Amino acid sequence: MKDLTPDRASLDPIEIASRDEIAALQLDRLKWSLKHAYDNVPMYRQRFDAAGVHPEDLHTLADLAKFPFTYKTDLRDNYPFGMFAVPQNQITRVHASSGTTGKPTVVGYTKNDIDNWADLVARSMRASGTRPGDIVHIAYGYGLFTGGLGAHYGAERLGCTVVPVSGGMTERQVTLINDFKPTTIMVTPSYLLNILEGFHKAGLDPRESSLQVGIFGAEPWTDAMRAEMEQAFDMHAVDIYGLSEIMGPGVANECVETKDGPVIWEDHFYPEIIDPQTGEVLPDGEMGELVFTTLTKEGLPMVRYRTRDLTRLLPGTARSMRRMEKITGRSDDMMILRGVNVFPSQIEEQVMATGGIAAHYQIELYKSGRMDAMRIFVEAEITAADDASRNAAARMLSKRIKDVVGVSTEIIVGDPGAVERSQGKARRVIDNRGKD
Ligand code: DLL
Repeated sequence: MKDLTPDRASLDPIEIASRDEIAALQLDRLKWSLKHAYDNVPMYRQRFDAAGVHPEDLHTLADLAKFPFTYKTDLRDNYPFGMFAVPQNQITRVHASSGTTGKPTVVGYTKNDIDNWADLVARSMRASGTRPGDIVHIAYGYGLFTGGLGAHYGAERLGCTVVPVSGGMTERQVTLINDFKPTTIMVTPSYLLNILEGFHKAGLDPRESSLQVGIFGAEPWTDAMRAEMEQAFDMHAVDIYGLSEIMGPGVANECVETKDGPVIWEDHFYPEIIDPQTGEVLPDGEMGELVFTTLTKEGLPMVRYRTRDLTRLLPGTARSMRRMEKITGRSDDMMILRGVNVFPSQIEEQVMATGGIAAHYQIELYKSGRMDAMRIFVEAEITAADDASRNAAARMLSKRIKDVVGVSTEIIVGDPGAVERSQGKARRVIDNRGKD
């Protein structure tokens, strides 16, 4: 793989500023953001008043802990535009996340917000190893999902040639990569695996493709999956993190030279890690729930937004800004089996480590008597699809999960292609516990 470390001179000065400079900028911006939220969003005014705090009570960054949290339900309760802090005619664009139950979560951006977002995705792409003039294949979904358009504006801002393919039609994805020769692909890691299959079906060697870097996010993926994708395509795989409520893709992004967890673009987002049960702020390095306060958002300022993503804050390495550890899971995805906490990513690591099966998997939760039980669907590699190999792979995976994760599971090794494929975010867990 090529060394794609960006020139220091090409970075935004704040990326490598001193911690003091970053903290001073954050404090200024935080004061503005709290006031903006309080003055313009009735929900924030009520919440702050009820908690007995006022934006002027913030003198240091640590004072933020006095302010109340904001939850996804707040956006739902104020559906669709009730939390916007500017008149609707100043909102340039809305996005929404589908939400499996009830109403979608709607987010809105002013012209400046869209501009900052493009800057931050451009910064993220540069950190990933993409350069002005590169061809960028975008296979994140376009539309209300923030992935496609978020990536698109950033790639244009960086000065790239953008191929706005969106998700789906895997065969065509392969043809376009083969013909247009992009150096960067932006896609969910699970959908990249489908594109990989498409390469094999078309009789093309993915290692010979033009791709040098993949910018993967929108769902959790492990370092084991990174190794698999880097090996398959002979390209760098870097992690992009974000969520619609805070902006979309590009809240944090890994640096290609270190690949040690996404760097949080702290000049626009103030991160905290809290104990999800007590709400107490935890010191850097401790695992907990990630909470963000936006520092520059005009359309939809967010104060102490509970992401439900579990991670910890780590010191800066390639940049002065802090990193977050690669997300291992969301508190909503945690499964509890006979008292043992299990995240899909722990299952993924063991699937990747087991020979004879492909990188696709899906987890089913069901009731066995009164107990919760787990069944894992994987599929045989084409070269190991006979019964003996499948049985051996099933035994091996089951043993690994028992030994490393600590739970007993049933493993089903299907035919190649048997596991449900995603075109965007993969559905890793199917919960059939409510059903017979
Ligand atoms: O998924 C934004 C995005 C698009 C990020 C494209 C990266 C690339 P939402 O649909 O609002 O926004 O979902 C946000 O997805 O809270 C995490 O749980 C999860 N997520 C996003 N990026 C990552 C990542 C977009 N790199 C939710 N690793 C977040 C793990 C991620 N989980």
